[in-house]
Amino acid sequence: MDKKVTVIGAGNVGATAAQRLCEKELADVVLIDIIEGVPQGKALDLTQAASIEKHDAKLTGANGYEASKDSDIVIITAGLPRKPGMSRDDLISTNAKIVKTVVENVVKYSPNSILIIVSNPLDAMCHVAFEASGFPKNRVIGMAGVLDSARFRAFIAMELNVSVENTHAFVLGGHGDTMVPLPRYSTVAGIPITELMSKKTIDAMVKRTANGGAEIVGLLKTGSAYYAPASAAVEMAESILKDKKKILPCAAYLKGEYGINDLFIGVPVKLGSNGIEEVIEIKLTDDENKALMKSAAAVNELKSFLKTL
Ligand code: NAI
Ligand code: 2OP
Repeated sequence: MDKKVTVIGAGNVGATAAQRLCEKELADVVLIDIIEGVPQGKALDLTQAASIEKHDAKLTGANGYEASKDSDIVIITAGLPRKPGMSRDDLISTNAKIVKTVVENVVKYSPNSILIIVSNPLDAMCHVAFEASGFPKNRVIGMAGVLDSARFRAFIAMELNVSVENTHAFVLGGHGDTMVPLPRYSTVAGIPITELMSKKTIDAMVKRTANGGAEIVGLLKTGSAYYAPASAAVEMAESILKDKKKILPCAAYLKGEYGINDLFIGVPVKLGSNGIEEVIEIKLTDDENKALMKSAAAVNELKSFLKTL
């Protein structure tokens, strides 16, 4: 392949992302983890599936960063996932150290790469990566809104018994309890869901979406969701690798957009070969804006906590 994507963390999200990347023939994939043998084993296993899955992407597993040299994109999933009873924010101290070390290594070998951050707490980890990399803001992007919107879309399709392909949804804000699903901008075949469902039903779906990660943690008990998170990160990577310029909700570093300054938070962005090529400012009602500000305050608190570490 003429593109190269490195995935750091060969756990549930990382390995699934590697699988999706190679099966879609988006790039050659390098899988890196600190556990000896795991990235090598998973890369070899995926390589042996290639003839059946019909792709020619090359997979490499490693514990060091040399193999990641000159990656176009680096997806960072290294860190601890949540266990039942834990919030995403409980992971901050451990994952901040991991993400900082990882990013310092990534930058040495791929100074021109675009970073897609997945590790939690997501918005705070974007700040860690932004500072550790010294990259411009268009090249540090957080994955959360695509996942949260996909969850909302799944619930809309289930409720209305329609094809999920007909649905569209936007979830903005931080990747936590204060996320902001936007029913007004969520549609089925272009029709706003506010015209298709009662407020009570929509409110229940909004609540389920905000609780979407915890619902899966509660079921799995030993970790958190990974199929949909991997799909979400790969949709972002695909838009960048193919310069598709999709508008997707991603955590982006804002400099005044939406009245928010110096903060990573989920907003609609245009993703192309330069990473974030535009932050799209949509009109919000007073209530939606209030919810976004509340979410920004929650992310700001985590950002301040990072300074105490
Ligand atoms: P996992 O435990 O299955 O995998 C994490 C991997 O990271 C492990 O294999 C571990 O050995 C590796 N790792 C730890 N320190 C490392 C280091 N310094 N360098 C390289 N690798 C290292 O966890 P999972 O389920 O893959 O989740 C990964 C992270 O992604 C978690 O923080 C989780 O909360 C987050 N996440 C975020 C989502 C989002 O929407 N932003 C969605 C799903 C997960
Ligand atoms: C999720 O939303 C844990 O952030 C992860 O599933």
